[in-house]
Amino acid sequence: MGYSLYFAFKFKEKMASGERPLLIVGNWKMYKTLSEGEAFVRKLLPQVPNGNPRVYLAVPFTAIKPLSDICQGTSLVIGAQNMHDANEGAFTGEIAGRMLKEAGARFVILGHSERRHLFHESDEFINRKVKRAVSEGIQPLLCIGESLKDREEGNTLKTLRDQLCRCLSDIKTENLLLAYEPVWAIGSNIVATPAMIEEAHGLCREVLKDIFGEELAKRIPILYGGSVNDTNARSLIEEANVDGLLVGGASLNVDSFSKIVHYNQMRVNL
Ligand code: PGA
Repeated sequence: MGYSLYFAFKFKEKMASGERPLLIVGNWKMYKTLSEGEAFVRKLLPQVPNGNPRVYLAVPFTAIKPLSDICQGTSLVIGAQNMHDANEGAFTGEIAGRMLKEAGARFVILGHSERRHLFHESDEFINRKVKRAVSEGIQPLLCIGESLKDREEGNTLKTLRDQLCRCLSDIKTENLLLAYEPVWAIGSNIVATPAMIEEAHGLCREVLKDIFGEELAKRIPILYGGSVNDTNARSLIEEANVDGLLVGGASLNVDSFSKIVHYNQMRVNL
């Protein structure tokens, strides 16, 4: 069997085995002015055919409204990279879920390791943000991941379980996305091995079942993130328990990002 046919076969097997959509999510972080973002999206849009799989882009706050207007009625979904847990208030420099919602954000990344480590966000704070996003009808994309120290000390699974249980405490929704992003793999050009991803995603699925029950838990997509690029994306998405990819650096270049989107699309069409 040829390479492409093999992947098509694996993909069909995967789609048949579950009801979770395959997702590619780009995280622009603090990159791209509005005009740069508009140019990117206009170039990307023709390569994102309507229907599944959808493509998500987490963009800077200033770009949410104009880019969601451009993407109206397409399969390119615009979201935010963070939000506060309060409805409104005296929190200089922060942004509320209802502001994001009105601007057109349909999802929000919460608990990204850069927020946890550079801005000292706790699991409890992230839990309140997830609750707020759910009540605003914005889909939370919760990120969890172990540090290098956690892994070296054999604490990876405990760390992931603790983060998941605390961040999802008292949450009832199936409108949730989860991303496993090992901290040491983010922006480092070091990708987790298939065995590490399989183990982490398997644990996440088990914990989701404990929290939400079997039926709901199996519908929550679990993405992998950390040094994904247009060379490794293709094999990463074939992992048994990988429902999509969260892409940082490689989502800034429209050609690289289009290639990743294309791999995913190609398998749907075959
Ligand atoms: P990276 O970032 O793809 O540049 O490693 C991933 C992320 O931070 O979500």
